[in-house]
Amino acid sequence: MGKPWKTIILAGGTGSRLYPLTHAVNKHLLPIYDKPMIYYPLSIMMLAGMQDFIVISSPGDLPQLERLLGDGKPWGVNFTYRAQEKPGGIAQCFEIAAEDIAGCNVALILGDNIFYGSGLPELISLALDNDGATIFGYEVADPSAFGVVTLDKNGKPVCLEEKPKAPKSKFAVPGLYFYDDQVLEISRNLTPSARGELEITDVNKAYLANGALNVIPLNRGTAWLDGGSHASLYEAGQFIKVVEDRTGLKIACPEEIAYRKGFIGKAAFKALIDDGLDTQYQDYLRRIAKEIG
Ligand code: G1P
Repeated sequence: MGKPWKTIILAGGTGSRLYPLTHAVNKHLLPIYDKPMIYYPLSIMMLAGMQDFIVISSPGDLPQLERLLGDGKPWGVNFTYRAQEKPGGIAQCFEIAAEDIAGCNVALILGDNIFYGSGLPELISLALDNDGATIFGYEVADPSAFGVVTLDKNGKPVCLEEKPKAPKSKFAVPGLYFYDDQVLEISRNLTPSARGELEITDVNKAYLANGALNVIPLNRGTAWLDGGSHASLYEAGQFIKVVEDRTGLKIACPEEIAYRKGFIGKAAFKALIDDGLDTQYQDYLRRIAKEIG
């Protein structure tokens, strides 16, 4: 039996690029069209089969996130909340969640990363069977704003750089990572970067140095978006609206995913529908409930 998986959703940071939107509200609660941003990373991980989540944010923002997500039981998942006292980089999350992740494999997703594409949950799930660490590569027009991975002709990683001025490849590394139970130890040996942060790229570099880093390329039919700037927040919302309007189906509806993944049964799904609430979201759940009979 492999070790159990825990998933960290990192919903910290100051969201300074989104000021004044984020002056009073945590970035991950801002809307991506019809749902809070954090529903999207949560949903893709639920679709990949994850049920045990640790949500990390600032002490001031955690109560709001907890109000939104609760303990997870109605969706057949579990949420634990942990405070990041001071933003010190993505790789700090392992120490913050040390107690929760002891002896476990750890997936990490950044709370503002949005993934959408046919076959994507299955592709992501491949990481669950890998040893060491698994990251993803996604071709972008300008990789210099991201972690960048360079692959050799056999698809093996040879180099990782964090926000390089002159990127060696077009493959950005999205904010979605899978690690074995070594990750806590590796993160404990990191030193802060020039920007004063414990860099997730340095964690990945340690796995690369040990010959234990796998890279799965995301194909060009995949959408990888984020809500980190005013423009990307707006565009991500538009993208979701276009696809949802056309199909009549919701992207990142945790209630529906919980049912379709078998995390909850039919009766529990129907119990999620609040007949007192006359909202478009509840109408959608009612429609799905009718379809499943
Ligand atoms: C972080 C990581 C970077 C990664 C990006 C994905 O960047 O440091 O390697 O490509 O997330 O969203 P940051 O959000 O700190 O700018």
